[in-house]
Amino acid sequence: MNRVYIKTYGCQMNERDSEAVAALLRARGYRIVQDEDACDVMLMNTCSVRDMAEQKAIGKAGYVAQKKKRNPRFILGILGCMAQNRGATLLDALPDVDLIVGTQKFHQVPDYLDNLRAAQEAGTVLPTRIVDIAEETGSQNTIRDHVLEEKQVSAFVSIQQGCNMDCAFCIVPKTRGDERSRPMDEIVRECEQLADRGVKEITLLGQIVTSYGRRDYAHTDGVTPFVQLLERVNAIPGVRRIRFTSPHPRGFKDDLIQAYGRLEKLCEYVHLPMQSGSDRILKAMNRPYSRDRYRQIVDDLRRVRPDMYFSTDIIVGFPGETEGEFAQTRDLFAACDFDMAYVFKYSIRTGTPAADMGDQIPDEVKEARNETLLKILEANSNRRNATLLGTTQEVLVEGPDKKGIGFMGRTRGNRIVHFAASERLIGELVPVKINRVSTAVLYGELQLAGVGV
Ligand code: SAH
Ligand code: F3S
Repeated sequence: MNRVYIKTYGCQMNERDSEAVAALLRARGYRIVQDEDACDVMLMNTCSVRDMAEQKAIGKAGYVAQKKKRNPRFILGILGCMAQNRGATLLDALPDVDLIVGTQKFHQVPDYLDNLRAAQEAGTVLPTRIVDIAEETGSQNTIRDHVLEEKQVSAFVSIQQGCNMDCAFCIVPKTRGDERSRPMDEIVRECEQLADRGVKEITLLGQIVTSYGRRDYAHTDGVTPFVQLLERVNAIPGVRRIRFTSPHPRGFKDDLIQAYGRLEKLCEYVHLPMQSGSDRILKAMNRPYSRDRYRQIVDDLRRVRPDMYFSTDIIVGFPGETEGEFAQTRDLFAACDFDMAYVFKYSIRTGTPAADMGDQIPDEVKEARNETLLKILEANSNRRNATLLGTTQEVLVEGPDKKGIGFMGRTRGNRIVHFAASERLIGELVPVKINRVSTAVLYGELQLAGVGV
């Protein structure tokens, strides 16, 4: 009766939150299972950033709730952003849900499950439900426990929760609350412990990591608290690679650009959300930078690291976006030569300023703009991968690939590489010569003298 299946929607922060919940549940004697059909409790950790993400989760929850007809003791919980966004009103559409837990209360999930179980044991007849979407001071410090697979190479570390930027399209400030940073010492200790457990690559997570600690720590010699944190993680011997997501162009100052020149573990891959290449749309989005400033950051980074890889987020079809304004996005998008991009069709989020802006863009237009950018991206990606043919890349070996025919790892630029290797190389940084490429992945051969596969 204690088998828990956790289904996660959305971003890496959600993945990280699910992992922390799983660790807490394990410590409480629950079993985390990977088989949805063999669980007694299903927890859905949800996303609200676009309407489709919410609809998907609601559809799934409605379907899963039918299990309760066969097994009245089955427990269904909805956690995270959609729980926070919709609260108890979710019960109108999903009356069979037992547990609704918001983004500041993940750590309460074990207690709540225990309580639901106890009510069942006591033979409570009426449906017992728990809804908790309250704010909690210090809740950013509760996402700290990890469930590591055997030989896990890479881990996420949450450094901050919430966001105060109020981008006009974005529901995150509502679902995740005010921006709150974790203490730097605690983050560093968590990274050290992960390194002790064999983790080699750390990805620092937050909605706006460039603002990390701005209210809690002073700048030292022009160095922001975020870069101070990078320096400290860089100094941990067992950590071999550092990544982070997501920075905001506004906070991407010179100290961070210079950090790419001096912190050897900081990978030359940056996810820098652009959203739009039109100054008017950026202003309407409440994104405080210009297209020129965005371009400048990209150019400056390439000056420091000529082999820098870039990824971005773009929204097409923001209210009022004209053909001319989209063309500006398209041109800047092409000029920045992104290696990876997430292109989103604008989705109305009730309660955000953009929802009431009028002049909504028809779906077909959004679709066409989406296609245009994806074509550019594909061409860029092919071009970049072709330049890697014949080169030798440093690859962090993660484990067997999904096809089971070999192993996979990533380059510092976050490209996935498939190659023949052996178990004992998992967690090692190895040179791999690239001998075949596709749009999405690279194939190669280990270049270790004397190391047989
Ligand atoms: N700062 C966060 C952003 C979270 S939302 C981060 O860590 O990246 C992730 C992306 O979803 C945003 O960058 C934006 O491109 C997209 N997005 C947010 N709200 C959206 C909306 N209403 N419609 C379409 N895309 C949206
Ligand atoms: Fe959303 Fe903008 Fe913050 S995209 S998460 S409000 S920086």
